[in-house]
Amino acid sequence: MIYVTGDTHGDIDFSKLLSTKLMDLTEEDYVIICGDCGVLFNPSEAEDMIEMYSSLPFTILFVDGNHENFDLLKSYPVEEWHGGKVHKLSNTLIHLMRGQVFEIEGYTFFTFGGGLSIDRAYRKPGFSWWPDEMPTDEEIEEGIKNLDKYNHKVDFVLTHDCPTSIVDLVRLYTWKTIKPVKSNEALEIFREGLTYTHWYFGHYHFDRRLSDKFTCLYKNILRILPKENE
Ligand SMILES: [Fe+2]
Repeated sequence: MIYVTGDTHGDIDFSKLLSTKLMDLTEEDYVIICGDCGVLFNPSEAEDMIEMYSSLPFTILFVDGNHENFDLLKSYPVEEWHGGKVHKLSNTLIHLMRGQVFEIEGYTFFTFGGGLSIDRAYRKPGFSWWPDEMPTDEEIEEGIKNLDKYNHKVDFVLTHDCPTSIVDLVRLYTWKTIKPVKSNEALEIFREGLTYTHWYFGHYHFDRRLSDKFTCLYKNILRILPKENE
């Protein structure tokens, strides 16, 4: 089984992962977090946090958000997993890197983390804010290259931020001052010409299906139905 949900921010929004509907899952099942997993945010708590997340009965996959300690995240070796690149924080806690396509339970997932910290002016670089929250040109190129291999057709897209063309819709439900930045523009590049069933993203801390193609997730935990039930 595969479930998808929004930001967990270390221990702040961890409790949703204790939902009774997830408790019968096993390590062969997946809960995918759309960014701001935050387990490594504070290095002094990282070990405990990894243990806490890894003690859950299922495997957790996450794209990175903006509240991640990228120095620590990138210190893990890059490994191949289900067709894409990952950082394994433990056997059951896995970071899905930017611009990858993963094949899981017969579905293809394109992943691309990152987003802007709107409060970055109040944060300390390398301590509570990392410039790596914004995608690089190389990561965007990697995404295009990997989508090329799949003829720009995947089943699902999992990101932290949303594409530029969705920002107007998002603004109706969250901060009124948001303007598109590079993370949105990168995702817009991927969206154009992409065939996909549905796109899930986090970052904006509300739950709403915005259109037949886009859902913003925060507390909700949605099941991606097995292919035979389509
Ligand atoms: Fe967040």
